[in-house]
Order: sequence, then C-alpha cells, then structure tokens
Amino acid sequence: MEDLITIAMPKGRIFEEAAELLREAGFRLPPEFEDSRKLIIDVEEERFRFILAKPMDVPTYVEHGVADLGISGKDVLLEEERDVYELLDLKISDCYLAVAGLPRTKMNDVAPKVATKYPNLAARFFREQGEQVEIIKLNGSIELAPLIGLSDRIVDIVSTGRTLLENGLIEYERIVDITSRLIVNPVSYRMKDARIHELVEKLTDVIENKLALDRL
Ligand code: PRP
Repeated sequence: MEDLITIAMPKGRIFEEAAELLREAGFRLPPEFEDSRKLIIDVEEERFRFILAKPMDVPTYVEHGVADLGISGKDVLLEEERDVYELLDLKISDCYLAVAGLPRTKMNDVAPKVATKYPNLAARFFREQGEQVEIIKLNGSIELAPLIGLSDRIVDIVSTGRTLLENGLIEYERIVDITSRLIVNPVSYRMKDARIHELVEKLTDVIENKLALDRL
C-alpha cells in the first residue's frame, strides 16, 4: 500500500474508546475491528495499518519508527519518556495517578516502600517531594501490595475509585490527571505530514464538538 500510515493501538481499556473516536472522525474500520485477535490489521480503503500492542509498549514502536503514530495514555508517556512528539490530547480514558495506601498509616521512617507499575514516574515524584523511598515494581493488581504488607504506599491509576474502595484503601495525594494522547514519530511527522495533518484535523473536530456538547 502506498502512503500507508501505521498506527500503534493499545490493547485493553483504551482500545475501544480510541476505535470509536476514529469512527466518529469518519474513518471506516471493519465491524470485527474490536473483536479480532489479529495483531496487525490492515484497513486498505483508509490506507491504515494498525498494530495492537501492550499499552506500555506503544511509545517504543513509535520511537523506533515501526509505527508512525500511536495512541498512548499520558501515564505511559510520563513513565517511558520516549523520543516521540505528542500531537493531540484525545480526551478519552480520563483517570488520574495517585498515591494511595491503608487509612491512618504513616510511611515507614526508614526506607518506606512504594509499589507501582510506574517505577520511573513514582521515583521522580517522591524525589521531587524530597522523600527517599524504595520502589517495588509490580505488573498489575498493585492494590494488593499494602494489603499484604509488601509496601507502605502505592502509586497507581484511579479511574472510578472502585478498586481502592473495595480494598479498603484511601487516596493520599493526587499526582497528575491522565488522558490518552496521539503521538508521532519525529521522522514520520516530516515525511508523511499531509496525511498526518488530515488525521489530526478530523480528530480535532470530533474532540471539539464533543467538548461543545458537554458544555451545553
Ligand atoms: C487499573 C489500575 C487500578 C484500577 C483502577 O488496573 O491499576 O488497579 O484499574 O480503576 P478503578 O479506579 O476504576 O477501580 P487494571 O484494571 O488496568 O489492571 P491491573 O491491576 O492488572 O493493572
């Protein structure tokens, strides 16, 4: 396919919202798009190739140029600090990063422990606060850590707040608001600028219309 644009999509939570946004922007994605187990999906009539990656890996594909564009949570971008440009706030998958833990507990005075999927981001946050902590990297179910005494605190995503509530944890500090972003490889941005600008314009229209409707 000539003039092909490759887009890295995050499998999981963000995927459906991102696919819906692309449809609203007028792109014709096949009906089985969301249900497929394929990892590479070509949509020839739009001259798009989608690759379905783990969310944490999306910026890696884009940095290396095997994907021109990617859709990635701001949490992942802050953690990975890859050499990519952020083009657009898609304003989907709203959530935030927070420090949480068991209620009425103080951090250990000596080498307090913080469990997280975001070791770089968490280390940076506590360093900026002037606190020395030991970071424990986990890959999921982070809320378990304080419950079984693995850590004093966690740094994790809060979306509805249900996971914290149902596990008897409370939020101690809100770190940063998170939404999904459209990212681009710097070389692709120069080489494929016409198609990328067209995509950005269409997405921007949809996002602005939604915001206008929300304000009504
Ligand atoms: C995320 C996050 C929290 C939860 C927050 O985990 O790490 O655990 O969602 O959502 P809530 O505020 O709506 O309860 P995810 O479900 O992605 O799975 P994981 O634990 O395997 O990371």
